[in-house]
Amino acid sequence: MGKDVIIACDFSSKKAVMDFLDLFKDEKPFVKIGMELFYAEGPAIVKEIKDRGHKIFLDLKLHDIPNTVKKAMAVLSNLGVDMTNVHAGGTVAMMEAAIEGLTKPDGTRPLLIAVTQLTSTNQERMTEDLLIEKPIDEVVMHYAANAAKAGLDGVVCSPLEAGKVHATCGNGFVTVTPGVRFADGDIGDQARVMTPAQAKEIGSDYIVVGRPITAAQDPVAAYRRCVNEFVG
Ligand code: C5P
Repeated sequence: MGKDVIIACDFSSKKAVMDFLDLFKDEKPFVKIGMELFYAEGPAIVKEIKDRGHKIFLDLKLHDIPNTVKKAMAVLSNLGVDMTNVHAGGTVAMMEAAIEGLTKPDGTRPLLIAVTQLTSTNQERMTEDLLIEKPIDEVVMHYAANAAKAGLDGVVCSPLEAGKVHATCGNGFVTVTPGVRFADGDIGDQARVMTPAQAKEIGSDYIVVGRPITAAQDPVAAYRRCVNEFVG
């Protein structure tokens, strides 16, 4: 699997994201577009960024009945995204339907990744709010295994979980890991973080990096530092 750094473009307008991408003259980073930008600007923003030559991870975390997810995925597949995602909590049947919807008539499709338990959900919230009484690590690995069973390509997980996901689901199962910070950088609101070099060592396939790049004084230099540490 091709190791790469994905920049989380958590901007709220087209102008802000385009001003940011204009800084990159020599490279075309893989970018993540999330709900904020997608809901603000609509599908056109995906096409515009794609037309500039960037790969796109469309992070919309679909979770609905299988038929609805299948039809929504067919629409996203036509946008030409390279990677997108669903909640594994939607069940194996929903994930299978998502793959069906994403697959184009020629048999190709974007990578499909599952979210297991969000990092904002801790053991207490899972037990009390969701009535899931198993240990959270076990639940995360079970959801990852379900994603693999449904034919998905990988999961979003913390860099700390990447090794265990590979051990459970195989080395070809992709791990996409946020929560990355430079050794000398601000942690911000992320609780458990790793440097790009540590994420590489533990076997992450893609790292998702937002503010360490987007809020840096020199975002291009910060991006290059990430690539150097992670891809080498
Ligand atoms: O700015 P920062 O590097 O913290 O951005 C990380 C990105 O990864 C954000 O877009 C955030 O929503 C996303 N993410 C995360 N933790 C997860 C899943 C996604 O930080 N468990």
